[in-house]
Amino acid sequence: MRIAVTGSKGQLGRTLLRQLQAEEVLGLDIPEHDITDLMALDATLARFRPNVVIHCAAMTDVDGCERDPDAAYRLNVLGSRNVAVCAERVGAAIVAISTDYVFDGSQSEPYRETDEAHPLSIYGRTKWLGEETVRHLCPRHYIVRVAWLYDAGPRNFIATVLRLADQRDHVQMVTDEIGSPTYAHDVALALDQLIRLPAYGTYHLPNAGICSRYEWAAEILRLAGRSDDLRLEPSEHYPRLARVPKRVEMRNVNGAEIGITMRPWQEALAARFRDAGDA
Ligand SMILES: NC(=O)c1ccc[n+]([C@@H]2O[C@H](COP(=O)([O-])OP(=O)(O)OC[C@H]3O[C@@H](n4cnc5c(N)ncnc54)[C@H](OP(=O)(O)O)[C@@H]3O)[C@@H](O)[C@H]2O)c1
Repeated sequence: MRIAVTGSKGQLGRTLLRQLQAEEVLGLDIPEHDITDLMALDATLARFRPNVVIHCAAMTDVDGCERDPDAAYRLNVLGSRNVAVCAERVGAAIVAISTDYVFDGSQSEPYRETDEAHPLSIYGRTKWLGEETVRHLCPRHYIVRVAWLYDAGPRNFIATVLRLADQRDHVQMVTDEIGSPTYAHDVALALDQLIRLPAYGTYHLPNAGICSRYEWAAEILRLAGRSDDLRLEPSEHYPRLARVPKRVEMRNVNGAEIGITMRPWQEALAARFRDAGDA
């Protein structure tokens, strides 16, 4: 199998490049490969002839999307349109990675893949429009929603909490934002299974279970052996530009039907600390 990965220098893209079982994997990221350049992307994919394109590239700075909605639209919607069109032209299936932020969090039950999207932010809205564009343009699509993503790299919540533990003796963390921390390694394993099955459709593949940012930070400090270095204080509200859902739990119905399940977030987080060796 030949696989192209967009956003290949990001958290999930890097992990996929390391983990995918494939004859050849081509990474596409800026500045060498800009998915907003349709003609260049078309030429690159025509040369590489992938069987599958895994589309991870996105504007993921949620507050940044509020500040520059045009840039968010250009990348998350038009960029996704370009990837979809070019994948279709070379006969490749497409995996489009999306987010729990397509939901508004008002539902008390876990969200199923079939539940209606109601994004609150520009990020959520442009990701939803990106999903819809892919659905319309590529019959052979997998839309895979994940949530609070992390790898062992320097640009995520875990890295921020550990940095704060180096710099401060106490910090406030919100208890009113609840979601599913998700290890990029686990998503890559699930995608490696999924792309081998013609089970096209929409998937919810975060790690199982939910917690608040406060509980997540506490578990990070515990696993890192830093609970004594940083005192966490619960806070109810953290002012930010984007409106984000208060509580989203996504239920994995479609993946479970074909034997693709995700382990609990606590187990995945512990594995991240074992893998990275910084505990
Ligand atoms: N991070 C999360 O918590 C989270 C949660 C739910 C869903 N997701 C979704 O999961 C996917 C992967 O997230 P991630 O955390 O791995 O993202 P990430 O680390 O921000 O990676 C995205 C990559 O895409 C690159 N990129 C930006 N513009 C591009 C362009 N025009 N052409 C090609 N590549 C471009 C970025 O480069 P620069 O860094 O230089 O801009 C970056 O390397 C995204 O679709 C995201 O929406 C993420």
